[in-house]
Amino acid sequence: MYKILKKEKLNEAVELMVVHAPFVARSCQPGQFIILRADEKGERIPLTIADYDREKETVTIIYQIVGYSTQLLSSKQEGDTIPDFVGPLGKPSDLKKHKRVLGIGGGVGAAPLYPQIRKLHEMGVAVDVILGGRSKEFIILDKEFEAICDKVYYATDDGTKGKKGFVTDVLNELLNEGKEYDEIIAIGPLVMMKAVVGITKPKNIKTAVSLNPIMIDGTGMCGGCRVTVGGETKFACVDGPDFDGLLVDFDECMRRQGMYKEEEHSCRIGLGG
Ligand code: FES
Repeated sequence: MYKILKKEKLNEAVELMVVHAPFVARSCQPGQFIILRADEKGERIPLTIADYDREKETVTIIYQIVGYSTQLLSSKQEGDTIPDFVGPLGKPSDLKKHKRVLGIGGGVGAAPLYPQIRKLHEMGVAVDVILGGRSKEFIILDKEFEAICDKVYYATDDGTKGKKGFVTDVLNELLNEGKEYDEIIAIGPLVMMKAVVGITKPKNIKTAVSLNPIMIDGTGMCGGCRVTVGGETKFACVDGPDFDGLLVDFDECMRRQGMYKEEEHSCRIGLGG
């Protein structure tokens, strides 16, 4: 059993939990994820590790309440336990000692981006970040990024924080101003990552993305998390979740992501939600 030491609401749909998980905390690296079940019969939820503390033996997860399983997780309070918390899974991010890197975090995508940016900062890499969301309430971890980045830019749909528009508008501006980045790390909704790659691919800027498809076993056996990268079949749980964004077939990812929408909806109806 894994005890919830801290629970915090980051905005109306996103929460943070610090979980006592000694084995995961001891060995996890930026980019890796865990799979948890909120109760013994629950659906497995894959969540990228947002932070970890090896001394305190804790792992921080940040999740968006989007359906039955995440509502069940959200119903837990500090002091409660999570029965299954398996990890670290997936490959650690391949972080290189570049001169300058740009991170792009869309909505809750800022959570998995944070440990990667922190590690790059510790490696002496200069980092800028663009954070985006529907409005300022949906921007998370801004203080944490500001503490380690050279510059943090913001984009919101309604203009309540930073530029009114999308993260890709800010990205275009930075590149048009002549800013040069050795690599861009973009994590967020598929549509955002696809749009970022739409800009970086013609300019041949190395772009890493983190994919979070449907996952079941998390061990490469079930095929649930299949993605196509560079024309080859990959499994996000064992070959990723980070991939070369310039090679990802985003349209296929989006089709597969929509496959279980009806089942998710039935669960919510069952919950009265
Ligand atoms: Fe089953 Fe990746 S979750 S193969």
